[in-house]
Amino acid sequence: MTAEDVTCGGCSLVTRRGFVSQATLAAVAAVLAGCGGGGDGGGSTGPVVTTPPRPPQIPTPLVVTLANFPVLANVGGAARVSSQPLIALARTSAGIVGYSLDCTHAGSPVDIRSNFTLKCPNHGAEFAFDGTWTGGEQRTTSLLRVTVTPNASGTLVTIG
Ligand code: FES
Repeated sequence: MTAEDVTCGGCSLVTRRGFVSQATLAAVAAVLAGCGGGGDGGGSTGPVVTTPPRPPQIPTPLVVTLANFPVLANVGGAARVSSQPLIALARTSAGIVGYSLDCTHAGSPVDIRSNFTLKCPNHGAEFAFDGTWTGGEQRTTSLLRVTVTPNASGTLVTIG
């Protein structure tokens, strides 16, 4: 409350100037909150998608021979293993994981870069090799995981 505000008994009355000042501060705070920015991985400015992305449709299970993708032999490696649907596999310390390469922001195909980080060419969202969103120019969520089942010998995985 400012010196211009008026107090009447147990309640307070706010002058027009005081009301406009407080409303302006609230509007500025709301705009800044909608800009993203703070603490979300650095530089992400776009709005978060409010419609949850849909998981990829896999009409019949995909069987992938891991030997065909040598980068998957090492933890931190990632490779696109299917174009329709667009699916990648990655080797983590816990084993092979799979995820859709359809960007969770607006559905553009995400690129796997030579260092096994991922970036969406559309608005710049960036992801770790395992599909976890890490920041970039667009705030979004991690890429959607798909079910991956390795065979007993670990030479094949079935997706879906
Ligand atoms: S579609 Fe917008 S960042 Fe990927």
